[in-house]
Amino acid sequence: MTAIELLLQRQSNPLLTTPAPNKGALEQILTAGMRVPDHACLQPWHFTVITDDGLQRLSDLFVKSSDKQTANLEKIAKMPFRAPMIIVISTEFVEHEKVPKQEQLITAGCTAHAMQMAAYSLGYGAMWRTGAFAYNKKVKQGLSISEQNEIVGFLYIGTPCKEQALKATKGFDNKVSYWR
Ligand SMILES: Cc1cc2nc3c(=O)[nH]c(=O)nc-3n(C[C@H](O)[C@H](O)[C@H](O)COP(=O)(O)O)c2cc1C
Repeated sequence: MTAIELLLQRQSNPLLTTPAPNKGALEQILTAGMRVPDHACLQPWHFTVITDDGLQRLSDLFVKSSDKQTANLEKIAKMPFRAPMIIVISTEFVEHEKVPKQEQLITAGCTAHAMQMAAYSLGYGAMWRTGAFAYNKKVKQGLSISEQNEIVGFLYIGTPCKEQALKATKGFDNKVSYWR
């Protein structure tokens, strides 16, 4: 797959199973995450790689952090098992006179995209998710993310359960204007 094919054909995959990326593939995925555009090279992100027993720990954390009165705990407990690997991307904001938080959040978001692309190009599937738990104080605490920082996403990665039909290309006409 060429780089342009990757960019024109990328798509998310919610249906993932084992095996997770092996050590070498994971290292490539993380290295791709480290290579994003990054104003002043602040590296304002952190990656928490969750596999194996870690998935059960995340499941317990989600359940513990839920509102017990209203939540569907059975459904919540299953969420982390939607893939054999989850990379939690969080910010690590740095005080900097030229690089506002907004830019640091964008660059952390770029890492999620880069890692999804790397996973895809290595033959894995991936899906970037947030949901209420990305904004839940207890979840952040459980993942050792400080209150000042943000969870940018849970990147679910695994082997596609089945071959995916390629989604249609999206037109850009109503999203682009030209100054000539
Ligand atoms: C920041 C962010 C958070 C997202 N959170 C969710 C989510 O919680 N659940 C979900 O179904 N899709 C979520 N998505 C969208 C999927 O990752 C995906 O982009 C979408 O399903 C469209 O599929 P595609 O990537 O194949 O175009 C999120 C995307 C982004 C960028």
